[in-house]
Amino acid sequence: MATKPASRISTHRTTAAKSSAFSVHENPYELAPWTSACTTSVDCTFHQLAPYIGRIKTTIARYLIDEYTSPGDLVMDPFCGSGVIPLEAALSGRRVIASDTNPYGVLLTRAKLLGPGQEEEAIDRLHSSWRGALRRRSKQDLRQVPQWVRRFFHPETLRHALALRDELVSHEDWFLLACLLGILHHQRPGFLSYPSSHLVPYLRNRLFPEEQFPEMYQERDVLSRMEAKIRRAFRRPPPRRARSSVALCDSRKARVPKGLKAIIASPPYMNELDYVRDNRLRLWFLERRLPEERDIPKSNPEGLFRDLMTSTLARLAAAVVPEGAIILIVGDASRGGRAIDTAQVVTSVFQKSPVLNAFSLVRVINDLIPDVRRSRRDLSGTKSETILVFRRQSLRRLQVDQKKIASAARISLMENS
Ligand SMILES: C[S@@+](CC[C@H](N)C(=O)[O-])C[C@H]1O[C@@H](n2cnc3c(N)ncnc32)[C@H](O)[C@@H]1O
Repeated sequence: MATKPASRISTHRTTAAKSSAFSVHENPYELAPWTSACTTSVDCTFHQLAPYIGRIKTTIARYLIDEYTSPGDLVMDPFCGSGVIPLEAALSGRRVIASDTNPYGVLLTRAKLLGPGQEEEAIDRLHSSWRGALRRRSKQDLRQVPQWVRRFFHPETLRHALALRDELVSHEDWFLLACLLGILHHQRPGFLSYPSSHLVPYLRNRLFPEEQFPEMYQERDVLSRMEAKIRRAFRRPPPRRARSSVALCDSRKARVPKGLKAIIASPPYMNELDYVRDNRLRLWFLERRLPEERDIPKSNPEGLFRDLMTSTLARLAAAVVPEGAIILIVGDASRGGRAIDTAQVVTSVFQKSPVLNAFSLVRVINDLIPDVRRSRRDLSGTKSETILVFRRQSLRRLQVDQKKIASAARISLMENS
């Protein structure tokens, strides 16, 4: 276990104790105990339904779920993104509540948690939706589709894909919609677009000019590609999934459940990633427009991040059971060349909020993000992640503290009378 310099988080027990009950355990720092090897060949293949920027490693999610919760426990992720934490929790028998403001993230999470149990059921649903899509095909008016979207597709492929999209939306078939968005753009033959990147959408027509690669610019058959996608998704399907609910909502307004064992989440890191811009083609397809709102405006990202964390956690923390945990995976961030210590910002939120005072910082785990997992083409953006584990005091400790508060209140009443 490696020790990190104490200066990174300056909330030492002594300083914190003066103003609040919040405490930091002696030397909570360590390096990641999970494997850094890629686990896509063993993970449940629902994780690979479609890409999402800022997605966390399945190994981190599995480790934290195993370490801090037990089967049957209730786990919440109010910034669920593509649903890595919710799916891992559901696979290991935890009940799950998930939410996010990004409709594409919510779609993926719903698809993973609430999708069909059997491959053949998904294929049957596809064939029935395809019949409906063919009826809708002639009604697709491509002049209504923005030019930047049309640039990615052969017109006939686009017409079929949009017709299928409309049919699936009308049935609320989130799983098949997620599969459709999963094959929307890439340079491989199994996908629907002209040659382009898979994650953040960029056309690769300079790398693959039409004159040299005419086959990459021909119409693509949507139905056979969807079938192949479904078969790939069911290579390692979830053997079981526990009860779960997924909502499209702001974390500050998320439903407060009873008896939470853990909140495990990776919140947005001060606008380091733009979840709308970087997912724009899939989002447009899903909504037939782009949401106007950005995750966190550019001005004062640190203050807005602090407010987001305070108002989200102060509401939800009350639902966390004694000895339950709030576990946050945060990335490094920088503004105008100045590094912002996101972990420090989160820790100070816990120190300052009276509700969050009932938690102690028990572990700080540092993990490097390998270049292959970073989304920007120039590999800018978040390079390392810090996992902060805050634990709620035990019932006994809470009772002792409440007695102390009550007796302090009695003394002050007597003094004042
Ligand atoms: C780092 S990503 C989460 C990634 C996720 N853990 C995964 O593995 O895919 C942060 C998420 O926070 C969401 N988000 C940003 N502001 C939000 C808010 N106010 N309420 C809820 N979700 C928000 C973004 O849409 C994004 O999906």
